[in-house]
Formats: sequence, C-alpha cells, structure tokens
Amino acid sequence: MAAIAMVTAIYPVQRKMIDIHTHVVYGVDDGARSLEMSMQMLRNAVEGGITGICCTAHARPGHRLFPAQDYLERLELLQRFLWQEGLDLCLYSGCEIMYTSEAIQALRGGFLPTLGGKGAVLTEFMPEIPWGMMQHAVREMSNAGFHVLVAHVERYECLREAFTWLEELKEMGCFLQMNAETVLRSHGLMGDRWARKALKTGLIDVVASDMHNLTSRKGNLPEARAMLKRDYGEETALRLTEDTPRRILEGSLWEERRKGRSANGW
Ligand SMILES: [Fe+2]
Repeated sequence: MAAIAMVTAIYPVQRKMIDIHTHVVYGVDDGARSLEMSMQMLRNAVEGGITGICCTAHARPGHRLFPAQDYLERLELLQRFLWQEGLDLCLYSGCEIMYTSEAIQALRGGFLPTLGGKGAVLTEFMPEIPWGMMQHAVREMSNAGFHVLVAHVERYECLREAFTWLEELKEMGCFLQMNAETVLRSHGLMGDRWARKALKTGLIDVVASDMHNLTSRKGNLPEARAMLKRDYGEETALRLTEDTPRRILEGSLWEERRKGRSANGW
C-alpha cells in the first residue's frame, strides 16, 4: 500500500468549536454508513455551531488494512459538499488508532494520518489493558516522536481504579480526551465522581463527540459544551471544546510545551 502523502491540515484552522474525535467519513469503519448519513451528520454539526471536525476513522495496525485511498477520497468529497452547500465547516484528516505492536511501524511508514497532519495521534486501547502495558505503549509512541492524545480516557479500567495513573499520563506528556456522552449522562455514582474529578482538576484536555451515526451515537458536542459551561465555567468549556483541539490541529500545543511557555501551565 502506498504511504499516505496527504496527511495534512488541508484547510485553515478556525477559532470556533472543534470536534476532534468523529467517525463521519462513510464506509471506512463502523461510523457513517452512507454518503447521505455523512452529509446529515455534517449539517447537524454546523447547526450546532461546530466549525472544525477531525475525521478520526478507526485504524488497527496488523489486524486490518487502513483504507487510506477510500478515506482520503471521501474526505475530499465531503469537504467539496460543504463548500458547495456554503456550510462553514472545515474537515481535517486523522485516525483513531488502536494501539498494537504494529502501530509505530504503520505511523512511521506514513500509512496512517496524524491529527491534522501535525504529529498527534488519537490513541485507544483495549478497555481492560493493564496500566503497565498502557504506560509502555505511550512511551513507545513518544519515543517514536508521536504526541499521544488518549481517546475516551474514561473507558479504561486501570485509570478508573487508580486516579494517579491519569496524572502520570499527563506527566508523560499525553493529552487526554473525554467523550461528550460522559459529560452529559450519568454512568453510576463512582463513574460520575471520577469524571467530575478529572474535569475539575483540569486533567482532561479535550471533550469530543466520538460520533458514529445519527441516532445511538450522534453528535452531541454542543450540548456537552453547554453543560461544561454551566458546571465548570466558560473558560473551561472553551478550553476543552475549542482552544486545545485547535492547538492540537495546528501543532502549536507541542511547540509551546517544548518551549515551556504553555498558557495553561502544562
Ligand atoms: Fe472513536
């Protein structure tokens, strides 16, 4: 398979609400199932005030070939649709990589798109992964030069059982993404307490929809943003749904951290 040459932020990043974890490109994973569904998901996003979407199709190196050509062709087709409809929404390339022993090789070979082409990787693990394995995986990714954004961080047993590992992930240089659904719905007393603590202490960097369709896993970032604003204040809501995702897509977050002058003190 040819390496993906176009792993770029094709369109300029705008300073508005950005959904950095979605499955809106049809027919490449378990997300949107048709062009029509993709188009409606995008229309809904625009109505909700979203101006940037990163299309993070599932990738599982060593288990399933990432359908790079279909993905890129459909991403472009959808962006053209948005332009033709006059909809103010920019699409960015990316993927949600399930960490496997082949992950680094696939990324280094350019077979998978990083977020906006800026070197950050939305990374997921098996929910029951032991902490030591997650720690090892993050180290491997970092040593290979990739910035890790941990997908739906609330999903992993080891992190729910020991909050200290969440803090250690941050110390290792990871950024942490929580799903909008976790902000919006109760997931049991302990789960709610864990999520509130993670948000209140500032450990969560990004909230995103992880939308897959128009019904059971639909876009819900605008609702989550309103809830975040009510419960944690406007500044936090903006940081989680706008500023940090924008800086990840620009690549500026890592540069700021390297220079030790991050506005958020990371
Ligand atoms: Fe996802």
